Amino acid sequence: RTETNLRPQTLDDYIGQSKAKETLKIYIQAAKERGDSLDHVLLYGPPGLGKTTLAGIIANEMGVNIKITSGPAIEKPGEMAAILNNLQEGDLLFVDEIHRLNRQVEEVLYPAMEDYSIDIMIGKGAAARSIRLDLPRFTLVGATTRAGLLTAPLRDRFGVVHRLEFYTESELETIISRSAQVLGVEIDKKGAAEMAKRSRGTPRLANRLLKRVRDFAQVKYDGHITGDVASLALDLLEVDKFGLDQTDRNILLSMIEKFSGGPVGLDTLAASIGEDSGTIEDVYEPYLIKTGLINRTPRGRVVTELTYHHLGLPYNS
Ligand code: ADE
Repeated sequence: RTETNLRPQTLDDYIGQSKAKETLKIYIQAAKERGDSLDHVLLYGPPGLGKTTLAGIIANEMGVNIKITSGPAIEKPGEMAAILNNLQEGDLLFVDEIHRLNRQVEEVLYPAMEDYSIDIMIGKGAAARSIRLDLPRFTLVGATTRAGLLTAPLRDRFGVVHRLEFYTESELETIISRSAQVLGVEIDKKGAAEMAKRSRGTPRLANRLLKRVRDFAQVKYDGHITGDVASLALDLLEVDKFGLDQTDRNILLSMIEKFSGGPVGLDTLAASIGEDSGTIEDVYEPYLIKTGLINRTPRGRVVTELTYHHLGLPYNS
């Protein structure tokens, strides 16, 4: 179906993230030539940049099965042990939000990642003993928003670590044009450019907006997405010229109106708009920092002159 078709299947079809792509290509080829499994890979960065997609591609390129789970989904050490024990030689285990594994579950991973074995406790009290269970050689691909959220022992067990970056407008244009083709919707160069500009550097958002703009083009126009159609539809969706949504603008407005532009601490800011501070830090703030609308200082977050201009507010330095 179209949802899955929007995800590229090979590294060559994967657009952007050139550094991760080029190095992974080498590690994959090297592992395959040796007949070995790929070393464990940690992918980190803001949501929507293609961590799950990349994990699927790695499995595909290695010619192995992928098993997908997430940190919060695994509650007990025995569940993790069972998942690991059910893997076949070379399989890829993708753990999304890996920083949310609890401590005991995480500890199962240490010997699994290092020696491809797990220790299982049998019996209770004085009779208790542990037996070692060998696992197939597998590849763990972990995903998280910030590498700093992982404990040091877990982070240290990944042989390959990549930060995924926001996509450039030109990369997003290519992704949008390709997705439009898959969806069977016509989009011209200006339409793709307008959408790329307003997709927050994020393919997941670009693809989501494309579906909504397509609906708009289909009902209100002749189905063709031009620059003007894209612009009108995105205005209607309350996605502004920088691709900011209502929450992004709330953050910026609150900083200006309640904290005179800052500096303001993350928790104080979060409380002022009723958002979770971790969500602001991991989901919203990275793009606002990247576009120069927020700066981080030792005393807290501050807005910039650009922020006032963007929101159409007077700037008094
Ligand atoms: N769709 C979503 N992310 C993509 C990417 N990085 N390359 C190509 N198509 C994509």
